[in-house]
Amino acid sequence: MKPYVIGNWKMNLSLAESEALARAVAGGAPADKARVVLCPPFTSIANVAGVIRDTDIQLGAQDVSAEENGPHTGDVSAAMLKDLGCQYVIVGHSERRRKFGEDSAFIRQKINMALKYELTPVLCVGENMSQREGGRWRETVSVQLKEALNGAGSVTKGLIVAYEPVWAIGTGNAASAFSAREAAQEIRRTAAAIIKPGSLDKDISVIYGGSITPRNVHTFIGNGMMDGVLVGADSLRAELFNGIIQSIIDIS
Ligand code: PGA
Repeated sequence: MKPYVIGNWKMNLSLAESEALARAVAGGAPADKARVVLCPPFTSIANVAGVIRDTDIQLGAQDVSAEENGPHTGDVSAAMLKDLGCQYVIVGHSERRRKFGEDSAFIRQKINMALKYELTPVLCVGENMSQREGGRWRETVSVQLKEALNGAGSVTKGLIVAYEPVWAIGTGNAASAFSAREAAQEIRRTAAAIIKPGSLDKDISVIYGGSITPRNVHTFIGNGMMDGVLVGADSLRAELFNGIIQSIIDIS
């Protein structure tokens, strides 16, 4: 399976900057050897879609409404994302859990909405520093996973789970290969127990996010480890993002 390299641009870049970055990624990385996904801010999705139309790069969004349509000011629906050409959507990022109070029930609704419109959810889970220091990372991650997938049953085919320890996001302090491996195993085990027999395990992809750089990416891939990475800061500079794609291809 080709590894995922998903760029989460967060709340950055003008239209012109978004187009320039998408063009530089398209021109610089062999996107056919990995599954490269760009997640621009909502405002840039249509323009980025135009730039990557004839390339192997795929499109995602950073969030989706839990509602189908109607009076939900400021929300963007799964149907709208699909219309723009998105194939993926990030759900439950820790920045949204923390700053916007998104809880598991809400995240579950978003996942179900994404699945209904055939968007592959990239479900983010991960412990904060006090949970890790208190020896509760395993419990935190498996509860987040169980609550978000509860009732999703066999429709979770194609799900991506991103292990993103909160303390590793934007800190320059990535998880160790050892803890990433433990987390990948825990996520696969928990998911296999929740999802209806025969419908998952092989279909779920587990990726790592949190201070990924071209220099450390190799420690997370291969040997039954992660199926790819979710990149924040280093996805905003083409030379770094393309470097991450190239490193992943070299070791896959
Ligand atoms: P980072 O962000 O690469 O800047 O740590 C990762 C993420 O939030 O997905």
